[in-house]
Amino acid sequence: MQPLVVSHPLAQCHLTEMRNASTPSHRFRRHLNLLGRMLFLEATRELSVDAIRVQTPLQETDGVTLARPMVLVPILRAGLGLLDGILSLVPDASVAHVGIKRNEETALPQPYYANLPPVITEADVFLLDPMLATGGSAVEAVRQLKAAGAKHVTMLCVVSCPQGIATLSKAHPDVRIVTAAIDDSLNDCRYIVPGLGDAGDRYFGTL
Ligand code: PRP
Ligand code: URA
Repeated sequence: MQPLVVSHPLAQCHLTEMRNASTPSHRFRRHLNLLGRMLFLEATRELSVDAIRVQTPLQETDGVTLARPMVLVPILRAGLGLLDGILSLVPDASVAHVGIKRNEETALPQPYYANLPPVITEADVFLLDPMLATGGSAVEAVRQLKAAGAKHVTMLCVVSCPQGIATLSKAHPDVRIVTAAIDDSLNDCRYIVPGLGDAGDRYFGTL
C-alpha cells in the first residue's frame, strides 16, 4: 500500500513552520495540532459509515453514522501532540496509549507502557506519532495493537522517510500510512533529514 502524502498547501505551511528551528514550543504545538487535524481529515475520507434516518425539526431524512467505533492511539510522548486536535473532530473516540522510547544509542524501541481497551478489536484505529524514522517504534506499536486484537489500523505521522515506510510496510503491509512528507533519509544518529529535529523535545520544550 502506497503512503498517502497530504500535499494540501495549508498542511505544507504548518509543516514548514514546524521544520523551522526558530519556531518556539508554543507555536510548534499549535502547528502540530492543526496539521494533525488535516492529516486526520484526509485519512478518514473513505471511512465506513452506516446509513441512518434522522428526524429534523421538520421531517425525517437520510443521514450517516460511523460504522465502527474509533480508537486514537498516541505513541508517548510526542504522539500526544496530535491528539487534542483530532479529538476535537471525533469527540466520541476512545483514547488508548502506547509508551515507547527509542534508545538513544541503538535507536531500538523500548516499550514502557500500554493501555489498550477491548473495543480496539472492532474499531478503526489511528496510531499517532509525528515521526516515522527507522520505523522501529511504529512496528512495535502496531504489534501491540494487533496482539490486542486490532484489525483496521492507520498510521498518522507528520514526517516520514523511505526507511521507516519500508520497515513498517514490510512488518505490517495492511497498515495504511498517512503523512505530510516523505523526507530524504536518516542521518548517522538515525534522525530524519531534513526532518524537524526531536519532535517530543520541541513539543514539550525539553530541549
Ligand atoms: C520519537 C518519535 C517516534 C520515534 C521515531 O520518539 O516520536 O516515536 O522517535 O523513531 P523510530 O521510527 O526510529 O522508532 P522518542 O523515542 O524520541 O520518544 P519521545 O516521544 O518520548 O520523545
Ligand atoms: N525522533 C524524532 O523526534 N525525530 C527524528 O528525526 C527521529 C526520531
